[in-house]
Amino acid sequence: MADSAAQDATEQLLDLKLAFLAGEPPACVLALARKDLVDLQLIWNSGYLANLQVDRHQNSTYTTTILKRIISEAELSSDAVSDELYEEFSQRMLSKAKDSLLNRMDHIYKEISFLSSTHDNTSSRLISVVARLSCSSNMLEGDTGCSLWPSSLFLSEFILSYPKIFSTKCCFELGSGVGLVGICLNYVGASKVILTDGDTSTLTNMKENMKLNNLCIEQEDSKVLKESKNKVECNYLSWEEVSESDLSAYQPDIVLGADIIYDPVCVPHLVQVLSMLLRPDRRQGKTNGKSGDECETEGPVAYIATVVRNAETFNCFAKAAADAKLYAVNITSSAAPSNFLPYMLSYDRSNVQLLKITLLS
Ligand SMILES: C[S@@+](CC[C@H](N)C(=O)[O-])C[C@H]1O[C@@H](n2cnc3c(N)ncnc32)[C@H](O)[C@@H]1O
Repeated sequence: MADSAAQDATEQLLDLKLAFLAGEPPACVLALARKDLVDLQLIWNSGYLANLQVDRHQNSTYTTTILKRIISEAELSSDAVSDELYEEFSQRMLSKAKDSLLNRMDHIYKEISFLSSTHDNTSSRLISVVARLSCSSNMLEGDTGCSLWPSSLFLSEFILSYPKIFSTKCCFELGSGVGLVGICLNYVGASKVILTDGDTSTLTNMKENMKLNNLCIEQEDSKVLKESKNKVECNYLSWEEVSESDLSAYQPDIVLGADIIYDPVCVPHLVQVLSMLLRPDRRQGKTNGKSGDECETEGPVAYIATVVRNAETFNCFAKAAADAKLYAVNITSSAAPSNFLPYMLSYDRSNVQLLKITLLS
């Protein structure tokens, strides 16, 4: 009985820590603590949270906002606020101006930790993969590509839930943004990971993120990278500009995309790129394992995760896809991924749809 209570308390602290490192909105971090009846004042004074930040300067605005919320909540509930908290808050406010001159205050480092369950008695939850990402606090920066969107969390959970679909496969992502999906593809052993985006500032941020995770192909001096067989390529690819011959260099088995169906102007170009990438005859020498006369070329498959914010835009995609002989099946329920991010209260997985798309012959 006592052991299980201690384990619960450890898990609650772990959730709080992971939510903080993932840069969850301050209101969600506080809600998590409230839900688990964790005394945040006590935890804060112990230094448990603030000492966790890898880059304390980069994330100082975030950390200060959390501290401010803890103080306000305690004041509102007429709890006594300790002098240490007030003292720390005023120190943080004083150093804020200095930090803002030295650092990009509009970016925050997030550590997204995917938790998996085990049946082991000693530890019920293990962290399978941790992705370190620099993300913009401004959702529109880099044509929306410098923020982390729920569809990429969902697609990442899908990859980690069904690793066999992706292991040993050449995977190609469209509109990769901060690059989270690439980190998960690398983790499950994809033979090649190619991330692309049509926005140059997003691409620069994505490459930085791959470096942070020791996965950038341009990072030639990295010892870890030299020893690792899987490296992540980050390439510029605009759906409007790319031609069939540009794509001939790629022969993906799997095409992926998260939150890329949102602009009706881009939809026809996106559908055209998907059609080109999914054409089986682009891939030479890739067969379904049969030989001789029975030899057929296996077509590539696309997995697209999307939040339907505007039904008209989504219908426009569905129609353009059908016209281009793209066959889309909604597999959100039939292949529902595991919940590897239980501590992320801001992530509403119920809004995300997952499509499996193939090209009809
Ligand atoms: C909403 S963000 C999603 C980013 C990431 N996949 C995620 O879910 O976190 C859309 C991404 O698609 C890219 N994008 C939008 N239109 C594009 C186009 N026409 N060509 C190439 N990339 C495009 C944007 O630059 C951005 O990175």
